[in-house]
Amino acid sequence: MAKQEGEPLEPLDTAFNVTIPSPVAPRISTARLCLRQIKPSDAERLFAIRSQPEYSEYLWPKEPDKDINTTRQWIASKTFTAPESAAGLSFCFAITLADDPTGRIIGTVGVNHLVPYATIGYGIAHGEWGKGYATEAISAAVKAWWSLPRIKTKQGDDDLKGLDNKDGPSATEKLYAFCNVKNIGSFRALQKCGFRVLREQRMEVNEELVAIMGIDRPEAADGS
Ligand SMILES: CC(C)(COP(=O)(O)OP(=O)(O)OC[C@H]1O[C@@H](n2cnc3c(N)ncnc32)[C@H](O)[C@@H]1OP(=O)(O)O)[C@@H](O)C(=O)NCCC(=O)NCCS
Repeated sequence: MAKQEGEPLEPLDTAFNVTIPSPVAPRISTARLCLRQIKPSDAERLFAIRSQPEYSEYLWPKEPDKDINTTRQWIASKTFTAPESAAGLSFCFAITLADDPTGRIIGTVGVNHLVPYATIGYGIAHGEWGKGYATEAISAAVKAWWSLPRIKTKQGDDDLKGLDNKDGPSATEKLYAFCNVKNIGSFRALQKCGFRVLREQRMEVNEELVAIMGIDRPEAADGS
C-alpha cells in the first residue's frame, strides 16, 4: 500500500464497471505491430523477457522472474477476478512484429485489473527498447479499451475509500498507470499516449516515488 506524499495534484476518479466481450478483439494491428491475446503457452518466451534484470528495475517486485512458474503465475494473474461481470476474462496482449512471420513476442500490454480502478501495464524486451514500440502498443491498447462495451455503473463509496477523492466522483471514466518517476522511458511513453500526472506517491514498501497517471475516455468513444 502506498502512502501519500504532499497534496495530491488531482484526485483519482471513481471507476466504472466494464463489460468485456469474450473473446476481446483477438488481434489489434498497428503500423508495425500485431497485438494478440496472451496465452499460457507464451510462458517460455515471456520468461526470457521478464527474467532480464533491466526489465524489472522499476517494477514491483523489482526481482526478475526467477523461473518459468513465476511467469506462468504472472500470466494467470492477468485474468480478472472482479468485478463479477468481468471475472474470468482478460485484456492482455502479446506484442509481436507485424512483419515477422515467426510471431516472436517482443513484449506485453494490457489492463492489469479493474478493481478498485483499471490500470494499464506493459513491457518491451530489453533488446527492443527505444524503437517506439511501447508508445505504439499502449496507444493501440488504450484505443481498443475505450471501444469495449461498458456498464456505466460507478462503484460504491466503499470502493473510493483511500483514493482521496475529495471532490467526489467525476462523470469521466479514466484508465490509470502507475509509473516509477525514474522510469523515464515509461513516463515518456505514457505522456505521448495522452496520460497526465494526477498525483505522486511514495511507496511504503521500497520508498520509490511513483507517478499515478491517468487518461480520460474520449467522449467520441462513448457509443455505449
Ligand atoms: C518502459 C518501456 C516499456 C519503454 O519501452 P520503449 O519501447 O523503449 O519505449 P518507446 O520507444 O516507445 O519510447 C517512448 C519515449 O521514451 C523515450 N525513452 C525510452 N527509453 C528511455 C530511457 N531509458 N531514457 C530516456 N528516454 C527514454 C523514447 O526516446 C521516447 O521518447 P521520444 O519519442 O520523445 O524520443 C521499456 O523500457 C520497458 O519495457 N521497461 C521494462 C518494463 C517497464 O518498466 N514497464 C513499465 C512499467 S510502468
